[in-house]
Amino acid sequence: MIDRIEQLIREAEEFQSAEPESIEAFRIRYLGKKGILNDLFADFKSVPPDQKRQVGQKINELKSLVSKRVEELKSVVKKSNKEGSVPDLTVPGISLRSGSRHPISIVRNQIIDIFTRLGFNISEGPEIEDDWHVFSALNFPPEHPARDMQDTFFIEKDPDVLLRTHTSSVQVRVMENSQPPIRTISPGRVFRNEAISARAHCIFHQVEGLYIDENVSFADLKQTLMYFAKEMFGDQTEIRFRPSFFPFTEPSAEMDISCKICGGKGCNVCKYTGWLEILGCGMVDPNVLDYSNIDSKKCTGFAFGMGIERITMLKYEVKDLRLYFENDVRFLSQFSAAF
Ligand code: PHE
Repeated sequence: MIDRIEQLIREAEEFQSAEPESIEAFRIRYLGKKGILNDLFADFKSVPPDQKRQVGQKINELKSLVSKRVEELKSVVKKSNKEGSVPDLTVPGISLRSGSRHPISIVRNQIIDIFTRLGFNISEGPEIEDDWHVFSALNFPPEHPARDMQDTFFIEKDPDVLLRTHTSSVQVRVMENSQPPIRTISPGRVFRNEAISARAHCIFHQVEGLYIDENVSFADLKQTLMYFAKEMFGDQTEIRFRPSFFPFTEPSAEMDISCKICGGKGCNVCKYTGWLEILGCGMVDPNVLDYSNIDSKKCTGFAFGMGIERITMLKYEVKDLRLYFENDVRFLSQFSAAF
């Protein structure tokens, strides 16, 4: 038995490894429940009494040797791990992927940029509004369908607290708080109670504009919007106006641009008309000026409003509105080249 133990001692002394797994296997082989040492202790019972002392010493020698060896090998592994974690300064860096702006933000910034070049400032206002700023001050008659529950998200009734359905409400606030000349655009989120589909959403973004001064005419409106259309969609873009109706403008119009996909020849994007509708506009109704204490005998103005999603869809040829609200990075990262 002594010989066997001595043999095991030699083996243990010679054992070498830098692998944590094989060090652990070595430990288990000797010190585990069914390991060599437990076997030796079991055999120890049958050792004749006169040898017990010598054999016992050898077994203990083996046991402490194995424990020591395991600790030594483990500490070598630990140390080399630490050394390995010192950064290699010659390794090329991990390049960070640059993020991208949301397409709605990109287009909103472009619109803002174009109008600020013309001297418009930016005004902002609350998304939670009252009836006065969203409807009454804008000359909506009390029974006008746009006030209907179908369109407007009401938060409270009597007095009405509601989510704005357009950013014209911001322009009312500007008119209430300043006197002409007023040249302002109001970008922002608006809310309408619509079923969500590829073509409609209950949240979208608008930029509305307002210009009030003495002698502002429809020609000024046309020039301003023509400049905008050419800057936004390219020099070749043509515009046309169709008569329309809004309670707050008189006369009112809708503006189309020549289809940028087919250049006016007709395609499925413009439904073979050659034209794309992009915004509503008109001369501010004198009632609206008077409601906000602006002298309608002295001043005139024009206003316009557009949906940013609509412009973005046309610019990037994205057909489904819902993509703008899903925050799917596979969609969003495609805009990283834009500013
Ligand atoms: N406020 C209108 C809308 O929400 C747009 C518009 C603004 C039309 C100004 C004419 C003049 O659709």
